[in-house]
Amino acid sequence: MIGAGLIGLSLAFELAERGAAVRVFDRAEPARAASWAGAGMLAPYTERITNDALLTLCEASLREYPAFVRRVADASGVDPHLRLEGVLYAAFGPEEFANLRQQSASLQSRAVACEVLDRAGALAAEPWLSPSVAGALLKRQEGFVDNRRFGRALVAACNARGVRIERSDSIALECDSRRVLGVRTGGGFIACDVVVNACGAWAAGLEGVPAACVPPVEPIKGQMVALSVPIGFARRATWVPGAYLVPREDGRLLIGATVEPSGFDERTTAAGIHALLHSAVDAAPALGSFTVTESWAGLRPGTPDGLPVLGATVLEGFFLATGHYRNGILLAPATARSIADAVETGNCAPLAPFALGRFGTERPAASRITYA
Ligand code: GLY
Repeated sequence: MIGAGLIGLSLAFELAERGAAVRVFDRAEPARAASWAGAGMLAPYTERITNDALLTLCEASLREYPAFVRRVADASGVDPHLRLEGVLYAAFGPEEFANLRQQSASLQSRAVACEVLDRAGALAAEPWLSPSVAGALLKRQEGFVDNRRFGRALVAACNARGVRIERSDSIALECDSRRVLGVRTGGGFIACDVVVNACGAWAAGLEGVPAACVPPVEPIKGQMVALSVPIGFARRATWVPGAYLVPREDGRLLIGATVEPSGFDERTTAAGIHALLHSAVDAAPALGSFTVTESWAGLRPGTPDGLPVLGATVLEGFFLATGHYRNGILLAPATARSIADAVETGNCAPLAPFALGRFGTERPAASRITYA
């Protein structure tokens, strides 16, 4: 496995629990980068995902979250604080409120549990919102996980299952014209039958990869800021115009996030933080008096069509698990399961909508890999 973010660690844990010998390589500390920087929101409906295949995968992953987190917590002894008590989307004008009613009708036709709240209902749900709120849509199945705790839990769970997580300044794939041979790091060559590129925003830059197997992934920066609020101040993750707010049990309220194609620049900027605070304080003036405790930025792995790149490549033994863009934390359990299935069986049919070949960069599928 190359890449020790939540995707790489979840897959390493899954494969190790299925009996595989797994090593994970990363240039940086495990569970950092976007895995650490995100807010951990598990909200496919609030994200308004319109692609059917992606929405279906996100829904599956949301359903798999409780059992997956339980396995990780059992193996690690670390509780990742999974909270699936609904996500609130607050509207501040009649037009936006009407849109929420429309979204509610279309979600209910998909059997998604959601509820339109009027002003009083929205304020009863989250009393810190501005009294100027018009109403809100509560999606009951959604929620969040504390992604930093989840990262720590996954590292410990991987260790407990015998996965070796190794850091090296140089990491490259080694292959011949037909298949992977292994991974070369600063410490030497490690022979591998299977290598997975789970390098997130850095996936296109992995060295030694043939051009036909390079995923078209680019970094999309998200800036975040945290306030220190009284514990229990906010119950649910809440979207307001221009920002989302996600509580943590230690009393932090995370406010995110900008969306900026800005290369590998991970700086926070005055304009970025100003925009987030402006949106948050507009929607909830009560936030204006709290202390800003932290600001940071992370790089989402974006792709040209917004879908992840998952599954085998024309290079035998080389798999991709990257390009998750805004939904990497949400998609960790389903990515782990489905890539582990593909590695075990060679059947990538369930991942066909996410195959690298959709970008027209691959030759016909090779060896034992089948796309239905
Ligand atoms: N999933 C939220 C974000 O990417 O900002």
